Amino acid sequence: MSHTCYVFDAYGTLFDVHSAVARHADLVGPDAARVSEIWRNKQLEYSWTRSGMARYRDFWTLTQEALDFALASVRDANRQARQKLLDAYMELDCYGEVPGVLRALKDRGARTAILSNGSPDMLGSAIRSAGLDDLLDATFSVHPLMVFKTSPETYRMVTDFWKVERGSVSFQSSNRWDIAGAAAFGFDCAWINRTGQPDEYADLAPSRVLTDLSGLLAD
Ligand code: LAC
Repeated sequence: MSHTCYVFDAYGTLFDVHSAVARHADLVGPDAARVSEIWRNKQLEYSWTRSGMARYRDFWTLTQEALDFALASVRDANRQARQKLLDAYMELDCYGEVPGVLRALKDRGARTAILSNGSPDMLGSAIRSAGLDDLLDATFSVHPLMVFKTSPETYRMVTDFWKVERGSVSFQSSNRWDIAGAAAFGFDCAWINRTGQPDEYADLAPSRVLTDLSGLLAD
């Protein structure tokens, strides 16, 4: 099936969320990888908890609060690394295949966009530092809605803005919970299972499972 619109989750899908800690692993200490895991998991937990309560705080604030928890909960983690990690999060690495895949999709005439929980400043900074500005037609941040994915209204930003049918949008995410939300909304979903995770949300399945984004070019 070929699509006219390709929409990408940002964190974990285009940008490697663990590249911030990886860059400063020596400074963070021997449990740096655990700090990174807890940081990410808490950031997501805070977004779901706050959506459920309708007590929105922007994703950058949640990212800082999650890092504070991670640094406090890992015994030997060096709290002095905090600012460097936050600065690195604003300039995360993108995965190696990302620029080439976005370029190829655009060369075919497809539209490309990000749909992310990230606040506009975070997304703008990550996009600029990864050199993706010219490869994306739009960036949809949930921020104006003051609610996070998997709320249906977040996915609806795309179809409202582009005036397209849900099924004509190919939605890519490495986050299985995000694929569940996008499939429930009616997007045609590709789960980018970069790390060989077992499947979940069986009733809300993607139509494709790929190991990285380059599999989209077989469309
Ligand atoms: C995103 C995160 C949460 O929406 O992966 O980009």
